[in-house]
Amino acid sequence: MAVKDHSTLPMFVTNRDLSYHQPSLCAPDCKKGLPYPYRTYEDVEEPVFDPSIHLDLEMPEYVTLLPGFIRRTRAEAGDMAPGSLAYSKPFQILSREGIRVLRGIVDREMQELEGVAPTRGSRIALRGLYYSSPWVRDFHSSPKVLDHVSAILGERVVVTHDLPSGPQVNKSVPGLGGAAEFWHWDSIPYVGNFLLNPMEDMEGGELEMIKMEKYAGMAALTEGSLRPQDVARMSYEAPGRMLLCQGSEILHHVTPIMCSSYSCSFFPFFPGRRAHGLSPSSPSPQPTCSSRTRW
Ligand SMILES: [Fe+2]
Repeated sequence: MAVKDHSTLPMFVTNRDLSYHQPSLCAPDCKKGLPYPYRTYEDVEEPVFDPSIHLDLEMPEYVTLLPGFIRRTRAEAGDMAPGSLAYSKPFQILSREGIRVLRGIVDREMQELEGVAPTRGSRIALRGLYYSSPWVRDFHSSPKVLDHVSAILGERVVVTHDLPSGPQVNKSVPGLGGAAEFWHWDSIPYVGNFLLNPMEDMEGGELEMIKMEKYAGMAALTEGSLRPQDVARMSYEAPGRMLLCQGSEILHHVTPIMCSSYSCSFFPFFPGRRAHGLSPSSPSPQPTCSSRTRW
């Protein structure tokens, strides 16, 4: 059954007033035989995650709000209605040292994907970092990060419990052509993305969003009636700057990347009040140009 709006389903209408701020799930007791190797700080050369060293938390200069995609400074936005953020201007989240550490971890883990064919667009997706990197696990679970993002979103969020694929890194493969991501909307309410490589070496890789209600945007796209002014194009600006987006409500894609680059679709976030309403395993409507679940 195709459902356009999950919030109209009886299950969600009945439980609309319920919320629960679930902390990050712990790792499974059994560490053997998992799809990804489980590593601790004793297994790999990684510094222990330290928010005072690896984070550089900054508020975005402005946010863009739904409906209407209206730009407001964070001060002007005031007490935003929950669910009203469309996207933020990128804001710093990782320090220079944090970027260096994470890039090293990604380079190490990407070696295991050598020879893997790109999927969807022109990218190779690295998953399982929650298990294979203790630093990533601590970063992913950091209360400071969650508090910061919740303050920007104007509602309390929890981090995804889809641990194998929560922290995901996409490596673009130059020369294949086509979009780095097809037009789609996400099956997860909020996603924070940032780059891990310097922008000077990069051509393309901007996030484009259709400034319309998502179904209207899909219709305009497929009918060829989309006007240039209907599309917002955002640069990720610099490594470690997070672009926070309510990808579940916005039709978006990433423009073709002409060089090798690493981007983190790092943090899928769920609002506590809707945590059971949308998830990758929910019967998502998601009429995307691709058949695979993604964010
Ligand atoms: Fe997306």
